[in-house]
This record gives sequence, C-alpha cells and structure tokens, in this order.
Amino acid sequence: MPESFFILSKEYLELAIDEITAISKMYDRFSKIKVISNLVIVQSKTDWEKIAERATFVKTSGQILRKMSGLFLNEEKFEVLKNAKTFVCRITNLSSNQFNTQELESSMGDMISKFSKAKVKFDNPDIIVYLIFTEKENFFGFSRKNENVDRPEKMKNHPNELDWRLTRIMLNLIGLKKGETVCDPFCGTGTTLLEAESMGIHGIGIDFNEEMCKITKENLKANGFKSEIFQADFHKISEIATNFDGIVTDLPYGRNSKTAKEPKDTLREFFSTIPKKKRFAIMFKRELGDGLKLKGLKKYEIYRHKSLTRTILVK
Ligand SMILES: C[S@@+](CC[C@H](N)C(=O)[O-])C[C@H]1O[C@@H](n2cnc3c(N)ncnc32)[C@H](O)[C@@H]1O
Repeated sequence: MPESFFILSKEYLELAIDEITAISKMYDRFSKIKVISNLVIVQSKTDWEKIAERATFVKTSGQILRKMSGLFLNEEKFEVLKNAKTFVCRITNLSSNQFNTQELESSMGDMISKFSKAKVKFDNPDIIVYLIFTEKENFFGFSRKNENVDRPEKMKNHPNELDWRLTRIMLNLIGLKKGETVCDPFCGTGTTLLEAESMGIHGIGIDFNEEMCKITKENLKANGFKSEIFQADFHKISEIATNFDGIVTDLPYGRNSKTAKEPKDTLREFFSTIPKKKRFAIMFKRELGDGLKLKGLKKYEIYRHKSLTRTILVK
C-alpha cells in the first residue's frame, strides 16, 4: 500500500497529528498511521495530495518511494523525475545526528542530475525530492509543485471570530466528508460555514443575533456559498437535527447582553441539547467546562494567553 509523509508544524502538534489521522481514516478506514515526532507516516489507499489538501498544519508532504538503509541512489528511484523539467533536493533531519544539510542537498542534486534531464531550481520546482532522517529509519520521497489554494474571503469581521485554522481542524477531527452537512449553532460571522463550504461540506448556521446573521450572509454571498442561516436560539438544533451530520462551533465567551445568560449556563444547556448520535467538535473557554461529563470525549487544551485557554471537545 502506498505510503506518504506529512511534516507538521509544531504549533498545535497533538491536534495536527489527530487531524492527519482523522482525514486519512475518513478516506480509508484501514489507513495505518505512524508518528515520529512531528513526522506522520500514513499507509493508505488515498493519495497524499488528497489528505494534504484538507489538512491545516502540514508544512511539507509527499509520497514515500522507499525506506532507506543508506544513501544509495540509482536511476530506478528517479522515475518520478521523468517528466519534470525542474527539481530541488530537501533534507529534513529529525534525528540527533548533526550533518551539513546544505552540502548533502547539493551532492544529492549532483547525483540526481546524472540520471535525469531535470534541472535544479530552488523556487517552486516541478518536483521536490526529500530525504528524511529520523532516529531509527530514513525515508526517501517526493512531492510536487505547490498550487496556491484560494482561501474563502470575509467581507466583514468581528473581534470574537474564530481562527479559521481551528475551525478547519475541528471539521476534520469529526471526519466530515464532501457532501455532508455541518451545523454551527453559534455561527457569529460564519467562519465555520465558510471553511466547510471551501471543503465541499454544506453548512447550516444559527445565531440569535440579527447583526451576526447579516454578516454571515454577506460573507457567504461574497464567496458564492449557500449555507442556510437561521436567526434563532441554539435550541433550534433539536428541530433540524435530521438535516445535518455534525456540529462544529465556538461558544460565547462572555455574558450575553440580550438575555443576561452566563456563558457557563449557555454551555451547559447547549451540551445537553446536542442530539445523541451526532459527531461534534465544540470549543469554549476552559474554565466554563468545569463539571461537564466528558466520558468518551477527546479533550484538547489550547493556550492563547494568560487569561485565555480554550478547550476543544470532540466526539
Ligand atoms: C464566540 S461567538 C462565535 C464566533 C464565530 N465562531 C465566528 O467565527 O464568528 C458566539 C456567537 O454566539 C451567538 N449566541 C450567543 N448566545 C446564543 C444563543 N443562545 N443562541 C444562538 N446564538 C447565540 C452570539 O451572537 C455570537 O455571535
């Protein structure tokens, strides 16, 4: 079975590893995952580009051609360069051995030039050839030219809006597939819906604030997205539960000026309203979750600054 590699940013490493695992298993439930520090090796029927396209914290990814016992290169390994005009070699050293990476990259480039017509190009070459060193094993692989991905546009923002990367990771952690539907019952400016639609997932947004619903609709319209928006209280989810597959949301952080409801009570009430069989990823200020029953749920903590650590709960 093909093997791919993903080198992850260390910013939210636990989340990033679980995200790659969830995406790989969403496409192929028999995928096998191996984690070596911030390197994830995936054995799966799914092409690595399809996994990387959905992921949020991947710095580099590619296909593994083989595991290596030494630095032995021959023509057969460079089949991948057959139709490429340009290439570059990159070494990633995750081992404790020290060596001159640049020198090794350059001599690898010279060696490859003997087998291939492709020329070395540092900036956005057709193929990047990778050598990844870890403590126990080394991997040899490649990736292709980076196509720039269009991000959804926001016409209007709000200070309370969610970091799109965390939204995306939550959508991935619950394994929502293209064509499925997510509901965000506290949709605010529509970050979840924009991110979901950019991944081919349909969206339903709920927010009891008229202004927020307006902003969300404008943001959706600017991108040609068609999520359904309800100006309503979050309890609406029980009524429309058959219309969605999972919930991704970020709960209110402060006391509501309209209802005077404390955020802790909103979280508690909402938590007991989530329809039983639905997958969910919800985020809230950590201390609001004290006393919630978390059995069977995966919990992540995300430090932002001294007075804000967020919890993400996933089912
Ligand atoms: C933290 S913000 C969500 C931010 C959003 N994720 C974004 O990126 O813009 C919480 C939202 O919940 C809404 N809200 C608060 N209480 C609510 C309730 N009981 N029912 C529905 N919406 C509510 C607020 O109007 C606010 O827009």
